[in-house]
Amino acid sequence: MEQWIDKIKEALSLEELETLRVSIFGKKGELAKAFADMKHADPAEKPKIAKELNRFKQSLLKAYEDKKTELERAALQKRLEAEAIDVSLYSPRERGGALHPVMHTMDRIIEYFTDLNFAVETGPLVEDEFHNFEALNLPDYHPARDMQDTFYFKDGKLLRTHTSPVQIRTMMHQKPPIRMISPGAVFRRDFDLTHTPQFHQVEGLMVDEKGKVSFANLKWILEDFLHTMFGDVEIRFRPSFFPFTEPSAEVDISCIFCSGEGCRVCSHTGWLEVLGCGMVDPNVFKAVGYENVSGYAFGLGVERFAMLIHRVPDLRSLFEGDLRLLEQFR
Ligand code: FA5
Ligand code: MG
Repeated sequence: MEQWIDKIKEALSLEELETLRVSIFGKKGELAKAFADMKHADPAEKPKIAKELNRFKQSLLKAYEDKKTELERAALQKRLEAEAIDVSLYSPRERGGALHPVMHTMDRIIEYFTDLNFAVETGPLVEDEFHNFEALNLPDYHPARDMQDTFYFKDGKLLRTHTSPVQIRTMMHQKPPIRMISPGAVFRRDFDLTHTPQFHQVEGLMVDEKGKVSFANLKWILEDFLHTMFGDVEIRFRPSFFPFTEPSAEVDISCIFCSGEGCRVCSHTGWLEVLGCGMVDPNVFKAVGYENVSGYAFGLGVERFAMLIHRVPDLRSLFEGDLRLLEQFR
């Protein structure tokens, strides 16, 4: 019997050990046979033999468990060695893609407002005159239409010139209170250093019961927003005009290229215009059938933000698909 313990101790592999387990502990194994043989023994001796056998079975089990642990550990060690990764081995870096700087800027803007619980609304790129102009207090004889000359289709539809029509669509489908932004592409007949025929805007609109939304609310949120986007800059609100807001303002930040001292980029004024805003004009509320409400709205050009954040002097260079330029934003 002792030889079984030796055999277990000498097993070289888990397979070998398993074969031994079956032949020792199995139903027809050696132990089973030894217990069966007890029936030939003297009845008086049986308890003693049984005790012996059980003690022996315990030492066999222990030898088996010890060996199993030892072999498993060895097998694991072998596998770890086989699968080891040489971290010092040089491998060329994978070249990943990246978001276009304009889209990345767009994402940052959206994130700021969605964090404040603004809903994100969208509208069609091909708009009608009503949503793009008329409902925004821009009747067809209005001279301000000229500043947003666009591309017209034969059926009278047009490529939207700003994201403001989404304000109209949202208000016509929802009751106040409203707190939304609308990011998206817009189109104008424009082409120079800082203007392209297609660009992106983010519109913002907040409407609630009359008296609940004030210019002070607008000023606070835009200042906080611009500090988040541009860091420690000066901000000023300059009276301006938009047909769909009254009063209206344009917002400037101190030039981030010359810190306000005056340079070519800011036309030596020390200031850069970054967005337009104001309190929603009563005529706009009339057009969408809202009564007894007040609200603010703002609209900004995403390319303008991207240019300032990444210090790109010519907007058009961002759309030429030149990898040497785009790779700098990875
Ligand atoms: C508007 O479009 C208004 N709808 C914004 C607004 C909304 C005001 C709500 C008040 C309330 P504006 O035409 O100034 O305003 O355009 C907004 C921004 O779009 C500009 O400050 C500028 O950054 C950007 N922009 C205008 N034209 C172009 C262009 N051709 N290419 C790139 N960016 C442009
Ligand atoms: Mg403007």
